[in-house]
Amino acid sequence: MKKRLINPPSPAGGRSPLRLITKAVVPAAGLGTRFLPATKAQPKEMLPIYDKPAIQYVIEEAVAAGIRDILVVTGRGKQAIENHFDRSIELEESLKAQGKRTALKMVREISDMVNLHYVRQKEARGLGHAVLCAKSFIGNEPFAVFLGDDIIDHPRPAMMQLMEIWKKYQAPVLAVEEIPRARTRAYGIIKPQAISNRLYKVQDLIEKPRPSQAPSCLGIVGRYLLTPDIFELLEKTRPGASGEIQLTDALRRLNHCRPVYAWRFEGQRHDIGNKLEFVKATLAYALKDKDAREPLLNYLREITSS
Ligand code: G1P
Repeated sequence: MKKRLINPPSPAGGRSPLRLITKAVVPAAGLGTRFLPATKAQPKEMLPIYDKPAIQYVIEEAVAAGIRDILVVTGRGKQAIENHFDRSIELEESLKAQGKRTALKMVREISDMVNLHYVRQKEARGLGHAVLCAKSFIGNEPFAVFLGDDIIDHPRPAMMQLMEIWKKYQAPVLAVEEIPRARTRAYGIIKPQAISNRLYKVQDLIEKPRPSQAPSCLGIVGRYLLTPDIFELLEKTRPGASGEIQLTDALRRLNHCRPVYAWRFEGQRHDIGNKLEFVKATLAYALKDKDAREPLLNYLREITSS
């Protein structure tokens, strides 16, 4: 039997007017312990992937998908994120005086890109709790969530792909990827019912299961389209895996009340929460720069041939 929500969702299936998604949440309060000592005094979101801080890739994807307001959920020691997306008058004046017009345009674009808002997650209580910190900012609208550890490269940004599913079903959509069974303990895993080649109706979800208990190898990656009814479920969610309030656990309950979909996105994902993948991402983006490509390939050949 379907459970009832206090604030039931509006009917799906295209009958209600389509609500465009213009708000997003970017949780960025983590301590970055996997990247110590690099993250001792700087946020992991500011580590550069080639020539941009990691969080900028995510913000650019949000902007490309039509998001206008982004709430970054921060914690102590994250001021560098705010500074990066703020105007830097001194730097601009200096670039202007030196006639460095391209650099000037680039730094101005960073601060004009989107409306950024900030809230602090006062305690590290998990992803579900971080999303809950966005409750009053989101209000009663559908919204997007971007996790900064996942950078996804594709001409049609992953969030844009999820928005296509939203337009059709007006229901929550999760980005998923086929992952090795041995890695299920690092992901939320869905039990899928295939609708088409890449689209699934979610039958169940489980956070970080053992490989033997995982209902599939489709792992949730860091892009979600959510409806505001998730908040009342997050409020009721008790700590789960790793003793944290898990978004997956609230989604599991949401899925008892309304359909949730999963989209196996097109694109190359870089899980930069891990050092090796971080280096690979840096190389991948450097190789996309036509000025760096050949010298870098030569260098890689040189250091790998001995
Ligand atoms: C979080 C989510 C998990 C998801 C993963 C994607 O886990 O809880 O469901 O699969 O992000 O990167 P974390 O990586 O924060 O442990």
